[in-house]
Amino acid sequence: MNLADELALAIRLADAADAVSLAGFNARTFTVERKADKSEVTEIDRATETAITNILLAERPSHSVYGEEHGIVGPSDAKFQWVIDPIDGTSNFVHGVPVWASLIALVENNVPVLSVVSAPALQMRWWAYVGGGAFYNSSPIRVSKVDTLRRASLSITANKGWDALGATPALTQLQQDVSRVRGYGDFWQHMLVAQGAVDVAIDSIGLAPYDIAALVPIVQEAGGKFSDRIGTPDWRANSLITSNSLLHDAILAYLPK
Ligand code: IPD
Ligand code: CA
Ligand code: CA
Repeated sequence: MNLADELALAIRLADAADAVSLAGFNARTFTVERKADKSEVTEIDRATETAITNILLAERPSHSVYGEEHGIVGPSDAKFQWVIDPIDGTSNFVHGVPVWASLIALVENNVPVLSVVSAPALQMRWWAYVGGGAFYNSSPIRVSKVDTLRRASLSITANKGWDALGATPALTQLQQDVSRVRGYGDFWQHMLVAQGAVDVAIDSIGLAPYDIAALVPIVQEAGGKFSDRIGTPDWRANSLITSNSLLHDAILAYLPK
């Protein structure tokens, strides 16, 4: 497996995704449906995933695809799997907020080794593969060097899942203990960690593997760290903390085990 070749393919997948998703976002004629879990979905989510999948079926028939909207396509015993969230931030997409992205990851033997996160309405794109460094709009990126919480910038998505864990008081305390708190949301907060603009990002409880897979190579190649709320680096977990590495343990110490 030549990851540089796979990156070239992944960039083409992102271009194909952007063509569908950005046209749909700008036209604003899509219909919004509710999934079983009550979350919003549009025909643009499905069409964007189809655009990506069609290229992969033609060019990588031995690989499988695991997407949010269409599930698993291709050989069930594939060594390589592309894990896709066609539109991460659908609620933003629906409401006209430009913070949404296509998340495209290549997973080898259960390890995310390459990814592209493409946010065309922001004109932002991030990518990385293992050993190749992480990039934002073609420039190399690196996490910050902030090593104390009192100087740290935190982005957080505190949802009902955190409340159900009894974590709201601890998260409130954490927000008082850092220097700055914002909620950039979805993929964006984790990409801001990777490029050193934010020091720590805490996502909501209830994530799926396709919410996380593509974020992992970019954060890690930029020198950052990811884990679930317990501290396990599992991209199939339902929670996600990313950090500049230096602050990771200090953040985990606030969270319920
Ligand atoms: C959402 C994003 C968000 C997370 C939500 C997800 P979607 O994905 O990943 O960061 O907090 O739980 O549902 O539905 O916009 O792809
Ligand atoms: Ca998502
Ligand atoms: Ca999605």
